[in-house]
Formats: sequence, C-alpha cells, structure tokens
Amino acid sequence: MPAIVLVGAQWGDEGKGKATDLLGDRIDYVVKFNGGNNAGHTVVIGDEKYALHLLPSGILTPGVTPIIGNGVVVDLGVLFTEIDALEARGVDTSLLRVSANAHVIPSYNTILDRVNERFLGSRKLGTTGRGIGPTYADKMSRVGIRVQDLYDESILRQKVVAALAVKNQVLAKIYNRRAIDADAIVQELLSYAERLRPMVADTSLEISKALDAGKTVLCEAGQATLLDVDHGTYPYVTSSNATSGGACTGAGLPPTRVDRVIAVLKAFTTRVGEGPFPTELTDEVGDELREIGREFGTTTGRPRRVGWLDVVVGRYAYRINGVTDFVLTKLDNLDTFEHIPVCVAYDVGGVRHDEMPVSQSDFHHATPIYEILPGWQSDISGCRTFEELPATCQDYVLFVEKAIGARISAIGVGPGRDEIIQRYPLTGE
Ligand code: GDP
Ligand code: IMO
Ligand code: MG
Repeated sequence: MPAIVLVGAQWGDEGKGKATDLLGDRIDYVVKFNGGNNAGHTVVIGDEKYALHLLPSGILTPGVTPIIGNGVVVDLGVLFTEIDALEARGVDTSLLRVSANAHVIPSYNTILDRVNERFLGSRKLGTTGRGIGPTYADKMSRVGIRVQDLYDESILRQKVVAALAVKNQVLAKIYNRRAIDADAIVQELLSYAERLRPMVADTSLEISKALDAGKTVLCEAGQATLLDVDHGTYPYVTSSNATSGGACTGAGLPPTRVDRVIAVLKAFTTRVGEGPFPTELTDEVGDELREIGREFGTTTGRPRRVGWLDVVVGRYAYRINGVTDFVLTKLDNLDTFEHIPVCVAYDVGGVRHDEMPVSQSDFHHATPIYEILPGWQSDISGCRTFEELPATCQDYVLFVEKAIGARISAIGVGPGRDEIIQRYPLTGE
C-alpha cells in the first residue's frame, strides 16, 4: 500500500530527522536509501536528544522496522557503534535489516577522502571525510565491496587486493602516504561479519512484501536536493541521489509504488561545505540566525553557512522530487526579525531568472531578488494550530506555499517531538 518518500529540499539539515520521527507511529518500515554516515539527524524526544548518522531516524519509534537499503554506503564500525549507543539508551534495534547489496566503506576510502581534500587545498569540496565519495566511485567503477562479499572470504580478499593495487599506487605516488595492507583490511571487514549476518537480507523483497501486506513504508533521504549528484550544485554535492528518484534505485522500490513525496524545507537556508549559495548572509544578521538556529553540524560540528529562504530552490525541489507535501521547519527561528527577506528570483548579469539557471556558472553569479515580508516578532513555539499563529506569520507561510507549488502540511515551531503544527495529514492516500 502506501510508500512515502521523504527528502530534503535545500542543502541538508532541514530537519528530516524530526519529520521522520513525527511520522513514526504511522509507519511500519523506515528505509534509508542513500548516503551513509555523512548524514547527521538530531531528534529531540522529551529531554532526550539523539544524533543519528547511519541509522534511519525512524529507528527511534518502537515497532518500526528500520532498513538500510542497497543505495547506502555502510561504515561497519560506525554501524555497530551507533547500534550499541542506542541500545545503551534503551532503543530496540533488533529489527534492523541491511541490504546484501549495500556497499561497505573500507577504511582506505575514509583515508582517501581526507587526504584528497587536503591535496585539493583551496579547491576542496568540504566533504564530511567519511569516505562517501571514494566508496560511491568504487561502486561505479565496479571495484566496490558489498555486504554479501563478507560471506565469501576468497572473493572478499580478491576484491580488496584488486582495489588496493590501484589505491596503493595513488596513496604512495600522489599523496606520499604509506601503502595499506590488504590482509589488515580483510581482517577488519571480517571482524564484523558474524554480528552482521542475522541483519543481512534481500531488503527490496522485504519492502515489496510489506507493501503487499498493506504496511506503510517511509523512505528517508540523507542529504538533500541540491546535494544530489545529478540535480544538485555539482561538483559541490554528495556522491549519491538524494532526490526522490534515489529512493527507487536505492531501496529497490518501483516508482509505481510511491504514493507521496514529502520534502522538508527549512524557513531559512543553510549549507555546510563549499559551493554556491545565493542568499548567504556573511554579516552579523547571518551570525544572529546561526546562533538562534544553533546551526552547527551534527556530523562534523562545523558552523553552517546561513542565509534567507530561497523559494527558487523550493520550487526546484518541488519539481525535481514531485513533492506532494512540504514540511516547513524552524519557523520559530524567525520569531525575532522585524523584516524577513525571501528570495523569489535571481538576477544574473541584469537578466531575471525565476527558475534555477541551467548553467552552474550563472548560479555562481546569481544575486537574489528579495521580497521583504513583515516579521511577527513574537514567540510561536507554543502554537499548535495554524490559526494560533500571528497573522503576519500565517501570511509568511501562505506566501511560501504559493511560491513553491505544493501545500505546506506541517510546520515546525521547535525542536521537540510535539512542537509541530499539522495542517494536513502526511500519511494515508
Ligand atoms: P536533518 O539532517 O535534516 O535531519 O537535520 P539536522 O538534525 O541536521 O538539523 C536540524 C536541527 O533543527 C536539529 O537540531 C533539530 O532538532 C532542529 N529542528 C528541527 N525542526 C525544528 C523546528 O521546527 N524548530 C526548531 N527550533 N528546531 C528544529
Ligand atoms: P544531512 O542528511 C549537510 C555535504 C558536505 C559537503 C558535501 C559532500 O544531515 O542533511 P560528502 O561527505 O557527502 O562527500 O560531502 O555534502 N553534506 C551535507 N551537508 N547535511 C548533510 O546531511 C550532508 N551530507 C553531506 O558538507 O559539502
Ligand atoms: Mg543533518
């Protein structure tokens, strides 16, 4: 029955974790379909705060079956560290399933990610240094290691030796680093095999059976639309498909089974790492917004770049993902501003662009055209219905809704589980 895909509309950290958690009691399966432990989702439940990286956020809801799909790249050390940390806090992770086709992140790729960034110097991408890019590159070059390879030692060894034959040349001759011993890598990977074995499954089949049985499946994206390797601000992107189409390939879910696409849109914009960002604020207003929103990375602790809301980006996310519902998050972070600029188009060399410019160079030179909306200058964190919001705040939401294309079905007014306004149901057909 219903499959829902949930994606980020901007450059990540929109509050996808909280939105997934919000749907928790109405879903049966939650599937992570792209990325790896480059993601960082903070979920606040009562006084408890959870930071999830590799595991899907839906794991926090008892009874939900969490799945790591084939499109994910798995750092096995991180997987078990996260499982142990959650179990220690009383979260049951026993239902977790991991696709036999998911690729693992061998430690040489984490090393390569970091040395490559250092090597690039001022041309660096600002990756999370988690080995994500090199592991997807290996997947596409057909020299990757899959979860199922851990259960055939001779195949595993062959693959590691083949991968290292090239990588060791690169490490030694380009980066001036020591070569990596294939045996050590094989032993490291095998050390996780037995603990992982009961979790390994044909997860696409499980999802298909669940949908046949009328269960609700939520596919939760890491990263976001503009970090998507095809549709984002390439090359300043991650290495996977973080848009809704990625759920089909990354979970083995046919497009004909997807009923809904929810996009999470933050009421302003943030970005971590390098790359173009037209509405970026580098002044004290930006510092204020960063402090109010506590915009420091969950994964790397880096201060996030911040700026005003860009509805050109929102419209783009609507179109690329086929969004049916938006969740607008962190609206409460705008409470104190007297005026709230919203970018409605770009000026590129004197020409107005209402859509994302097709040329990346144009996007680098885009200057925002703002519409200035009045602020509400009051605390909205206690509001639980749309009608309780101040009139100017309602107008802000309606303005954004009209500009982006799909309805705003839920509004976040604080980090807590209950700090939400539900306007329209997010599940059901
Ligand atoms: P994700 O990567 O998309 O899951 O987002 P992150 O967890 O990296 O960043 C979102 C941050 O905003 C987290 O610290 C959340 O607790 C917080 N958050 C989510 N929704 C809201 C909201 O509506 N209001 C406020 N004030 N904080 C929120
Ligand atoms: P969530 O799921 C924000 C960014 C990195 C870098 C680029 C490539 O929490 O929204 P990578 O390590 O993936 O090769 O880095 O992508 N990036 C994120 N930015 N939120 C994330 O995840 C991100 N995951 C990757 O900062 O610019
Ligand atoms: Mg995040």
